[in-house]
Amino acid sequence: MLSDPQLIDSINSQIGNEFKASMQYLAIGAYFEKETLPELAKFFYEQADEERTHALKFMQFILDAGGEVKIPSIPSPTHHFQFAEDAVKLSLESEWIVTNQINDLVGLATKNNNYITMQFLQWFVKEQLEEVSSMEDLLKIIQRAGEGGLLHVEEYLARSPRSEQQA
Ligand SMILES: [Fe+2]
Ligand SMILES: [Fe+2]
Repeated sequence: MLSDPQLIDSINSQIGNEFKASMQYLAIGAYFEKETLPELAKFFYEQADEERTHALKFMQFILDAGGEVKIPSIPSPTHHFQFAEDAVKLSLESEWIVTNQINDLVGLATKNNNYITMQFLQWFVKEQLEEVSSMEDLLKIIQRAGEGGLLHVEEYLARSPRSEQQA
């Protein structure tokens, strides 16, 4: 086995964290769709797909390392928001939480001298920088537009070239 059992357990927990983020973004996408804000809905559905891809990457790593994949139970996401800004704030908080979780994994791999896992995690370290940064941008735009200016946010998202489709 390339990875040790403690790391495999922690990576299995991370699979749950990524699916949790994915479900939260689906719920936010549905909220925006219900509010007739299709570009915001699309943005969050795409985020949900990305988080699912992250979970699959972790699953594949466990399998490659000869470990056993155990997907934890996923809590029900938050469905109701008073303001659009609240949904985006929750998303930014969630990206910070995931960033700390990835950092903890790197810390554990480093402590255990597990260089293969350390190297595997580097992709996620970089990805979190992008995810936090793009969510911060969206929050700024929403705050600047205000609740009455959400159509400007829709216009902005429709025009912005965020189709780099990193997975
Ligand atoms: Fe993620
Ligand atoms: Fe993310």
